[in-house]
Amino acid sequence: MVKKLKKRLFPVAKFFFDKYTSKQRKFTFEGITIQMHSAVFPPKFTLSTKILLEYLKSLDLTDTTFLELGCGSGIISLFAASKGANVTASDINQTALDLLKEASRENEIPLQIVYSDLFENLSNQQFEYIIINPPYYPKTPQNVKERAWFCGEHFEYFENLFQQLPNNLAEHTWMILSEDCDIETIKNIAQKNQLSFELILEKTVVKEKNYIFSLQKSS
Ligand SMILES: C[S@@+](CC[C@H](N)C(=O)[O-])C[C@H]1O[C@@H](n2cnc3c(N)ncnc32)[C@H](O)[C@@H]1O
Repeated sequence: MVKKLKKRLFPVAKFFFDKYTSKQRKFTFEGITIQMHSAVFPPKFTLSTKILLEYLKSLDLTDTTFLELGCGSGIISLFAASKGANVTASDINQTALDLLKEASRENEIPLQIVYSDLFENLSNQQFEYIIINPPYYPKTPQNVKERAWFCGEHFEYFENLFQQLPNNLAEHTWMILSEDCDIETIKNIAQKNQLSFELILEKTVVKEKNYIFSLQKSS
């Protein structure tokens, strides 16, 4: 019911979001401010980023190595770095990366910022934490902005990610998903690549169930 309603309302929400972000807007979390941009995934209006931020709050990240794969605005990366992690933030959206460079300078929080299609430019590095808030609607993205939302009609994003992940897995590889997406299909693609999901957090916000899964090699 909620899922169907959300699906119907998505174009309306997108229209208002595009209108809202056509002006310069900011988002602040724990004293860290970023500039939002219409071409970059919006942490202000989506639940997933905020749930991940809240979850990270309780962790001691001092001196850990941390990758945010598909960093978008990079607020998660900046927050993790402010908690003492050595952070790499990667994305295929150059506008997002340019804005994140600026935010890193303005907030005086240093980060490694890397243009990378999944692990393409990260393959020589190992991390203790990998955080992924993936695009999950099954539709072909028409441009880089849409790649924040759409994973391809045949879940190509997950096919590629789960092929690469076994060689790049971190001790803590976490992915957030919502009941709004086809979790069973996503889990099946993972399973095909010898990866399994363990639930580490379930959180219901505005009647929508959100899950953080830890990804591991299947035994
Ligand atoms: C749902 S948004 C999440 C952004 C950010 N992590 C957050 O939680 O606010 C997904 C992000 O993944 C990026 N992305 C999509 N496909 C990618 C790929 N193949 N390689 C790297 N990043 C990708 C998008 O550009 C977008 O910034």
